[in-house]
Amino acid sequence: MEKILVLDFGGQYNQLIARRVRDHRVYAEILPYTTDLEVIRKNKYKGIIFTGGPNSVYDMSSPHYTKEILSLGIPVLGICYGCQLIAWMCGGEVSTAPVSEYGKIEFVSKSSPLFKNIEEHSTVWMSHTDYISKMPEGFENIGTTQDCPCAAMQNTEKNIYAVQFHPEVTHSQYGAQMLYNFLYEICKCKGDWVMDNFIERTVDELKAEIGDRKVILGLSGGVDSSVAAGLISKAIGKNLTCVFVDQGLMRKDEGDFVEKTFTTLFDMNFVRVNCGESFLKSLRGVTEPEQKRHIIGTEFYKVFWDEIRRQNELGYFAQGTIYPDRIESGKGDADKIKTHHNQVKMPEDIEFLGIIEPLKDLFKDEVRKVGERLGIPKELVWRQPFPGPGLGVRIIGELTEEKIKIVQDADWVLRDEMAKNGYEKNLAQFFCVLPDVKTVGVMGDHRTYDHLIAIRAVTTDDFMTADWARIPYDILAKVSNRITNEVPHINRVVYDITSKPPGTVEWE
Ligand code: XMP
Repeated sequence: MEKILVLDFGGQYNQLIARRVRDHRVYAEILPYTTDLEVIRKNKYKGIIFTGGPNSVYDMSSPHYTKEILSLGIPVLGICYGCQLIAWMCGGEVSTAPVSEYGKIEFVSKSSPLFKNIEEHSTVWMSHTDYISKMPEGFENIGTTQDCPCAAMQNTEKNIYAVQFHPEVTHSQYGAQMLYNFLYEICKCKGDWVMDNFIERTVDELKAEIGDRKVILGLSGGVDSSVAAGLISKAIGKNLTCVFVDQGLMRKDEGDFVEKTFTTLFDMNFVRVNCGESFLKSLRGVTEPEQKRHIIGTEFYKVFWDEIRRQNELGYFAQGTIYPDRIESGKGDADKIKTHHNQVKMPEDIEFLGIIEPLKDLFKDEVRKVGERLGIPKELVWRQPFPGPGLGVRIIGELTEEKIKIVQDADWVLRDEMAKNGYEKNLAQFFCVLPDVKTVGVMGDHRTYDHLIAIRAVTTDDFMTADWARIPYDILAKVSNRITNEVPHINRVVYDITSKPPGTVEWE
């Protein structure tokens, strides 16, 4: 398989670069700038991209790399900091620019294989305070902006290219074309990273690795574990056991849907553990959000590992780890790996032959493509994020069976209306919350004193910040009307118009 290396110098768009390369059907992997040159040499990359980064190259504590990397005979593209680094490594000069450039800037390009099929004048996305004040010898200037005399340069003999702007960002008008040119014109890639190949290859690899041994996988009903289950089932059928712990805190009928999907569509041993009652028992009287989360988490793993012990066969343990879960950061502390949010701590008394992570090289959108090709229903493949503690953090105060049913029914109405209006695609996440509040209302000619439902809907790219969604009033009116009519014990509906920060997406 062809591979492009994205050498990470700590910039904020590093994952985006890898994703854009993969959009052009070439596999890209991200490694920190501390990666040994020998590792890079052995991997036989078709091309190397130096990423951006927040530092100045002339600060000696900034991330640098040995100059030998430019003599491996592998084409290199430097972006932003990566561009300055190449200039600096090759004997040019980098200094603080008299005018910093941020945002959309007009770029004038000259003839270069990197700029094939792009207009001479175009818009690029800039974000820099340093610039190349003297180009290194052997390089040719291939682009300028008003304030950046060397916004792009090349050394065609050595196949080294560098751009001061960010082609990976969609605001760069021809950014995608430039990356395409780097991959196909310069690195001579053929484009073998397609999801059908991935499925075939992975299934073959899984068969070879697992043989006739057993695999056990914790299925949560989320995208990643569902797609991992589908792939492994295709490879080993009934030798895969999926353990699905239903703690009674999923959305309406979701547990049944997960069970039906995996027992009818896939050949596997599906074990559903219903433990709603015991969960509620351990949560009785608990109102403090962190305590609730802690109890739900602890109980979940207790039930999960007990079931695994019951299965009692020495085999592999599979997880739905995806690529962003395991990328190392190049921000100075390169040996600190980001928290593996869906990698679980194993109890010491359980032994496995090894860990199987069939999605470990995929981004989320690629996982979804694989899921669709495996025939997993769109409700699972395109499922919005759902917190581990489930409805437990969407019912404020003590959990009861009645409250769970109320929030499930109201949430179902909300989802139904969003689907009917085709509005889901505008939202990153939307759901109902049941606050611990009762208010007075009037229904028929009777006074009521009952629960209220809050609707939460947000738009966001990364969930670190989020904006409350401007859902059209007509849709909100319909949702409110249906919830108060169809869900017993609700006499009022409110809409949460708080962004994050200061609010969080979930209420608890
Ligand atoms: P907050 O509420 O922190 O949510 O703004 C950001 C995103 O994270 C999800 N979330 C969780 N996901 N376990 C999870 O797996 C959790 O405990 C949890 N809490 C929040 C939330 O739904 C949103 O997508």
